[in-house]
Amino acid sequence: MYDVEVGLDPAFTVGTVDPRLFGTFVEHMGRCVYGGIFEPDHPTADEHGFRGDVAELVRELGATVVRYPGGNFVSGYRWEDGVGPVAERPRRLDLAWRSFEPNTVGVDEFCRWARGVGIDPILAVNLGTRGVDAAVDLLEYANFAPGTTSTADRRVANGHKDPHAIRTWCLGNEMDGPWQIGHKTADEYGRLAAETARAMRRADPDIELVACGSSNSAMPTFGTWERVVLEHTYDLVDHVSLHAYYEPVGGDVDSFLASSEDMRAMITAIAATADHVGAVRRSDKRLTISFDEWNVWYQHRFAGQEGLERTENGALIEDVYDVTDAVVVGDLLMALLDHCDRVAIACQAQLVNVIGPILTRPGGPAWRQTIFHPFALTARHARGTVLRTAVRTAPLATERFGDVPATRVTAVQDPVTGALTLLATNRSRTEPARLTVDLRAFGHRRLLEHLTIADDDPSATNTAEQPDRVVPRPATGTVLDGDQTLTATLPPSSWHLIRLGD
Ligand code: AHR
Repeated sequence: MYDVEVGLDPAFTVGTVDPRLFGTFVEHMGRCVYGGIFEPDHPTADEHGFRGDVAELVRELGATVVRYPGGNFVSGYRWEDGVGPVAERPRRLDLAWRSFEPNTVGVDEFCRWARGVGIDPILAVNLGTRGVDAAVDLLEYANFAPGTTSTADRRVANGHKDPHAIRTWCLGNEMDGPWQIGHKTADEYGRLAAETARAMRRADPDIELVACGSSNSAMPTFGTWERVVLEHTYDLVDHVSLHAYYEPVGGDVDSFLASSEDMRAMITAIAATADHVGAVRRSDKRLTISFDEWNVWYQHRFAGQEGLERTENGALIEDVYDVTDAVVVGDLLMALLDHCDRVAIACQAQLVNVIGPILTRPGGPAWRQTIFHPFALTARHARGTVLRTAVRTAPLATERFGDVPATRVTAVQDPVTGALTLLATNRSRTEPARLTVDLRAFGHRRLLEHLTIADDDPSATNTAEQPDRVVPRPATGTVLDGDQTLTATLPPSSWHLIRLGD
């Protein structure tokens, strides 16, 4: 057992959480769209072919925004293929995932579905094989009022009178990656992104734009890519993107449990890089980060895009997540919250089947993976103002990051109700932690609940047969002593949500 002491004061804050921090991602890849959210033959399908059981779980997950349609897929996508009468839509090759794209679901169907489950769509434009024209056309198609342009009226003729009102747009996807269709150097991409952004802004000045940053922190161009891209785009964009996927490399679970150290370092480095570009330009503008792909992904199990057989709707990267993965996902969410002053948007990748919190069987059930739970709880309760935490804890030795804090704690206060939500991760696989939180600065508090994700078997998973094998469970022994001090025990490898009310 080791001790963790936390000091908190509502007067000392990091920033306000942008609700878009709890985003998700749907790509035309594997069984995310076809066989995931969309399965017309499923017993729960609605009149448009979207699964009702999946929609229900998506609502429960509580994601706020959803990035679409890719991912690598977008870099070869012609959005026009996916609108208009379905019977007339072309069947195309998807070069990213070597599959056939039937185009049964496109922008109109997707936006209607997303709004129906209470999520705002974020659209990505293709800057791999296409450019300014296609991006502006899509913007007009999606956002312009009826009667304004022929492109907007095409949407109306296709049965969607109201504009889709897309606020946030991604200028391409992972353009730094040699695997990307239409991969570019930072200068090439920076110019194209700037030209596209300028034209899109002229068409609709109210949109927010995301320039592509690095695909992960190990990219040889990490940092340089962002500097060069932002030298082209700084005045034209609002956010720069980052992506990161984590797994226990070579079985190194201790480093895996501390994955958020990498995410934290990425955010700090790229915020500094953006600020450098801003400083050189004597700009008052402060860019934020869109961490629009993040998750646990067992990439070593995936042969890579080159090794794929050409299929339609074939399963791709359907990782089954365990308790340890859920702890890591909870910890990654805490890293995003701790940097809410610089991270405006974040999208867990992806939503269903493809490294998703939800799994489905064709014609059968849909269920929550372990990682569903920390996301749903955090998205529901961690709203408001992130407080600065002073944490004294033991170090945990890791091969990848050296010594890291064995416990991480994040505190979020709802400015309206005053409710305080504490999130905590014990990353030690062997030692429980004795948590003590000094709450003297908060006045009278009541312990509402303490839920934990932990298990005697950290490799336990949820399956179609046992969908609730791993769920958040009430912790025992948590005490709020005279409004002053909260004490709790955090078992090894565990994630926690503690809520305190008036
Ligand atoms: O989410 C899977 C893939 O990971 C996305 O298509 C791509 O952007 C990233 O490399």
